[in-house]
Amino acid sequence: MEVRAAVAADLPPLAAGLAGLDLMKRYDRDEPKLAADLAQALERGDGLLLAVEAGRPVGMAWFLRQGTFGLGGYLKLMAILPSAQSRGVGGKLLAVFEARLAESAATGFLLCSDFNTAAQSFYERHGWSRVGALPGLVLPDVAELIYWKRLRPR
Ligand SMILES: CC(C)(COP(=O)(O)OP(=O)(O)OC[C@H]1O[C@@H](n2cnc3c(N)ncnc32)[C@H](O)[C@@H]1OP(=O)(O)O)[C@@H](O)C(=O)NCCC(=O)NCCS
Repeated sequence: MEVRAAVAADLPPLAAGLAGLDLMKRYDRDEPKLAADLAQALERGDGLLLAVEAGRPVGMAWFLRQGTFGLGGYLKLMAILPSAQSRGVGGKLLAVFEARLAESAATGFLLCSDFNTAAQSFYERHGWSRVGALPGLVLPDVAELIYWKRLRPR
């Protein structure tokens, strides 16, 4: 598995694969919407790292390099294709993302749905701390849990 920056040609197959995730269905991100979101992200210059296996993208980390709470970066979306989950791809991609983000920010933040206990455990095992919740921020019946991690010493 290698991690590299995304290019435009990566986005349609990635969106097609990720649209099948329950999380995307819950947040109403179907294939066209996801493809458009990712294309706009690339155009804006957001961070968009891909996990690639045998030349095919199997996961992504989409992030903003700075500005969160006026001082940190933000992991907007991390997702691994169902067929590639639970064999270390996410862990490796998260480590590369953290190192890349540390070049522009001393701290990282992310939000995780209250129902997404698998992702909560994943982030906590990788040293992210849960510090609060934003009830109804995106979906009326879901709280977005706030996580953060210090990426380099003060
Ligand atoms: C959450 C997510 C990003 C994690 O990615 P992943 O590739 O499954 O992560 P990993 O394989 O590194 O780790 C997942 C689990 O697999 C297990 N695992 C890791 N490497 C393994 C290996 N080589 N062999 C067997 N099991 C392994 C670990 O027990 C790990 O447990 P943990 O989550 O409690 O740490 C991924 O499951 C995903 O995309 N989920 C759907 C979208 C989502 O929820 N995104 C997060 C939005 S906030």
